Amino acid sequence: MLKPDAAAPGRAPPPEMEDEAVFQKQLELFIRSSTDKRIELVKIGEVIADLHHRRRFLDVGAGGGDLTIPLAQTFHETTVVEPNTPQIEFLRRRYPQFKLHNTTWANADLGDDRFDFILCSHVLYYLDEADWMPAIDKMRAHLEPDGRLAIVLQSPIGELADFYNHFAHFDVDILGLWRELIHRFGDRAVEARYFVNEIWTDSLDDMAEIGLFLLIDRKFRARADEIRDYFARRHRHGDGYRLKQDEILLAVRHTP
Ligand SMILES: C[S@@+](CC[C@H](N)C(=O)[O-])C[C@H]1O[C@@H](n2cnc3c(N)ncnc32)[C@H](O)[C@@H]1O
Repeated sequence: MLKPDAAAPGRAPPPEMEDEAVFQKQLELFIRSSTDKRIELVKIGEVIADLHHRRRFLDVGAGGGDLTIPLAQTFHETTVVEPNTPQIEFLRRRYPQFKLHNTTWANADLGDDRFDFILCSHVLYYLDEADWMPAIDKMRAHLEPDGRLAIVLQSPIGELADFYNHFAHFDVDILGLWRELIHRFGDRAVEARYFVNEIWTDSLDDMAEIGLFLLIDRKFRARADEIRDYFARRHRHGDGYRLKQDEILLAVRHTP
C-alpha cells in the first residue's frame, strides 16, 4: 500500500479515509485476492532461519494479524503494537496469549523488553518520513543481541508503482532508507530481499475497488471510472485481472 501525495510529510490535507466498514471490506478483498502474505512469509522465514533463539517476537502495526498469527507459532511469546482498536480486539478474542498494546509505535512503552525478531510490515507509510529513523532506532533498541528487524515496504518500481504514479505520486523513499540503514548500522548488518506479489481478481469491479483501497484516499472515488478503465486497458489477464506488486524487505541484524 502506498502513501498518496496528499499524505506526504508537511503537505496538507491528509487523506480522507474510507468509513471503517468500507475499509474492512476492502482489506478483506485485498487479502483474498493477494498472494502477498504467503510470499512475504517465505522471505521472512529466510531472515529468521538462523536466529539463535526464538523466545520473543514483536509485530509493529500487525493489522489483522495475517503475518503475526503464523509467525507466532515459532516463537515462545508474541507482542503486538497496533493503534487500530477493532484489530486489537479481534486479536484479544482469538489469541489471548498475545501481549497487546493498543497504541502507535511512538507511544508504545515496552520497558526494557527485548525481542529476537521485530517485524514492521507496510507500516512506515503511515508515519512522516522524518519519523522513520527515530522509529527504527527505537525498534533496534528493543532487539536482543543477534536479533533481527525486518521492514517491508512497497518497491518504487513495478506495475503497482506505475498505477500509483498514474493517479498520485510515489513518494516512499525506500532506497534512501536502505542507504541510511547501511550508514547507521554497517553494510554487514543490513540485507535486502525483493519479492513480487500478485493481486488477482475475477472481476473488473473488484480490481477497481482494490485500486481505491491502495490509493487510501476516498477522494479517488470521484475517479472510479478512470481507475476501472486503467485496469481494463492494462491488466486484463486470461479470464481475470492481474496486478503485480513489487516489494522490498530490509533486514537489520543487531550486531552488538
Ligand atoms: C497496511 S497495514 C499492515 C498490516 C500488517 N503489518 C501486514 O503487513 O499485513 C498497516 C497497519 O499499521 C498500523 N499503523 C498505522 N500507524 C501506525 C503507527 N504509528 N504505529 C504502529 N502501527 C501503525 C495500521 O493500524 C495498520 O494496521
